[in-house]
Amino acid sequence: MCGIVGYVGKNKAVPFLLQGLEKLEYRGYDSSGIAVFTNTGIKIEKKQGRLKILADAISTKEDLNNANLGIGHTRWATHGAPSDVNAHPHKSKSGKIAVVHNGIIENYIVLKNELMEKGFEFVSDTDTEVVAQLLDDMYNGDMFDTLKTAVNRLQGSFALGIVCDDYPNTLFAVKKDSPLIIGLNENENYIASDIPAVLSKTQTVCRLKENQIAVLTSEKVELFDFDGNAVEKTVSKIDWNVESAQKNNYEHFMMKEIMEQPEVLKATISPRIKDFDIKLDDIEFTKEYLENIDKISIVACGSAYHVGCVAKYFMEDILRKPVDVDVASEFRYRNPIVGENTLVIVISQSGETADSLAALREAKSRGARVLSVVNVVGSSIANESDDVIYTWAGPEIAVATTKAYSTQLSILYLLALYMAKKLNKISEEKYKENIENINRLPSLIEEVLKSENKIKEIAEKYLDKEKIFFIGRGLDYATCMEGSLKLKEISYIHSEAYAAGELKHGTISLVDNDTLVISLLTNEKLFDKTISNIREVKSRGAKILAISTEDKVSKINEISDDSIIIPKFCEMMLPSLSVVPLQLLSYYVAKFRGCDIDKPRNLAKSVTVE
Ligand code: F6R
Repeated sequence: MCGIVGYVGKNKAVPFLLQGLEKLEYRGYDSSGIAVFTNTGIKIEKKQGRLKILADAISTKEDLNNANLGIGHTRWATHGAPSDVNAHPHKSKSGKIAVVHNGIIENYIVLKNELMEKGFEFVSDTDTEVVAQLLDDMYNGDMFDTLKTAVNRLQGSFALGIVCDDYPNTLFAVKKDSPLIIGLNENENYIASDIPAVLSKTQTVCRLKENQIAVLTSEKVELFDFDGNAVEKTVSKIDWNVESAQKNNYEHFMMKEIMEQPEVLKATISPRIKDFDIKLDDIEFTKEYLENIDKISIVACGSAYHVGCVAKYFMEDILRKPVDVDVASEFRYRNPIVGENTLVIVISQSGETADSLAALREAKSRGARVLSVVNVVGSSIANESDDVIYTWAGPEIAVATTKAYSTQLSILYLLALYMAKKLNKISEEKYKENIENINRLPSLIEEVLKSENKIKEIAEKYLDKEKIFFIGRGLDYATCMEGSLKLKEISYIHSEAYAAGELKHGTISLVDNDTLVISLLTNEKLFDKTISNIREVKSRGAKILAISTEDKVSKINEISDDSIIIPKFCEMMLPSLSVVPLQLLSYYVAKFRGCDIDKPRNLAKSVTVE
């Protein structure tokens, strides 16, 4: 968690640091801070709360604003509560060294005790402060040399930005298991946790690889491994610009990202379909390999896990192979039955989710082949997987995922059809029909998005509900899980998803006149069964919002208080359509309740701690 930035150059550091931190606030926003090099040495300004508070505090301080070198941090609290004192940067005892950190120093207690015995005093509750103190303790007048030795004492994950009083023109950075990029420019260079932070300045970036140290001045950037050997930079040009990381005319990133779904789905799907053939980039699964797989195991967190839950239904249905779906934090510790004949699929937007990354490592250590479905190119999960399929969703800034979810789902359809064809589990006719269906997804989602105004009215009607259940069967149940998570995470309404047939085994006792039940009915075979479940909750006083297909309008209107109708489409891919009204509904309920939609309380976009 957390976002870090750094600047070294001939211009003023503060404007870059503040705008870079603004772009990284999606990584956490409990506090923010900067350390800059002034005429009188390193000075720190840090504040609990949103970046605006820090910006206001800095605005009147001339010495800070004149600095040409600095580091900055936006925090998602892990060790120590959100507060000014726990905010980064952290300074060393001598005041010579300041550090910003993203990650967790797992052995910080051992190091802290050791340093305290030597007389070091600690002011914060953070793990990061030990890095500053350790560097101070080990400092031999040569910061690079000191860093080389110090990194071997640190256990855990760390992307670090470091400034030192003896180096008025040099910025130091370190990467291990937390993301860090370098932005390259003329007369100035930058570090950041993610690309949007540097995009207003440069599109030329270099992603640090594992266990690297970077030394930056305004003229050059040098990279070294932890043994101190110089290593080559891999520089790439980013082909999306700063506008794509901005809100354009939308009030919130979430709405912009919901509306981008047709476009990003097209970008994700079309390069992979050539004349009815599915090309999964450079990946080749032979028929023999697929036949030998005895199980597919999908591992992910949150919404990405829900993609796995949807995929289980259609993959098992067409592949006739078992598909397990696990929450990554459970998978990694439960001694999973995974081996050489298991294909493990890790799904992750950020590619940095700590539990998903650990699950990936666990699966690999047991001999499984790991395929990841990832949005962020070059991220840790992508780097460590045997095979990667990227979702081309572009930067997703809103904490609640929408477009990444939809593109992940589309990759899973492609994967299922690709495998089914190789395994001769699908007729040529059915296969082609499904390829045509995938190609239709973007325009059908566009169609669903036209219901925005109706959904807005429904949201206004139910915004005061404090108890909302989502019910459905089969694929609809899996989509309900995502709908419920979306609603609760941004509107703070307590909602739960239930398999419609399960309600009467306990939960129905919660249903009363104040309950809203949102019911998904898109499966022909299960339609009447779910209708019976709706009757059960309706007779106990619940209000009903039904979401179904256009061929069911009259039946739906008969039983529901409100309805949202989506196009009739192939059932396997209907979850891609039915999730869209749920995203819009969550958005408008949260908006009418005055919630901070893009940055819901207690959450961060990229969960890089377990
Ligand atoms: C919810 C949401 C989260 C993420 C989860 C996994 O809207 O976005 O539940 O899906 O934290 O994140 P990634 O996909 O980055 O691994």
